[in-house]
Amino acid sequence: MKRAIYPGTFDPITLGHLDIIKRACKIFDEIIVAVAKNKEKKPLFSYEKRIQLAQKACKEYPKVKVIGFEGLLVDLSNELKANTIIRGLRAVSDFEYELQMGYANASLKSELDTIYLMPSLQYAFISSSIVRAILKYGGKIDHLVPKAIINDLKE
Ligand code: PNS
Repeated sequence: MKRAIYPGTFDPITLGHLDIIKRACKIFDEIIVAVAKNKEKKPLFSYEKRIQLAQKACKEYPKVKVIGFEGLLVDLSNELKANTIIRGLRAVSDFEYELQMGYANASLKSELDTIYLMPSLQYAFISSSIVRAILKYGGKIDHLVPKAIINDLKE
């Protein structure tokens, strides 16, 4: 059973995230989408809401399970017995942060591998912060987030 963890703040989950999840489904038997509490980041959406939105967005993917987590990713990987982390890479600007995080995790647990997947070019500009910025002024977000959560976000 090939299980991978896809961690993130998901504030909120976007079509870019979903594209990565679909790609991961082609490689792994089970994908655990792990929503980090990440209080330090002061997310716009509550921890519970971010989990609920991710669950709604992933409902039609049987290989995907959404959970919340607090604490270190390496501890979660031990708990779940999963030594593969999935992260999306959109542009060179993501690379430095991702490299540092990948090495930091590997320094805590050498068996942990991080696999980086590229979203389709049409989603490469999408980020949760772009979605939040547009939402703030009531702009159109339908092309940026999964259909299943559009109404929740507009509320
Ligand atoms: O979507 P994000 O905000 O880029 O995701 C960041 C996340 C959740 C992957 C990162 O903050 C994380 O792994 N948090 C758990 C705490 C941890 O393990 N930190 C050490 C690695 S930097």
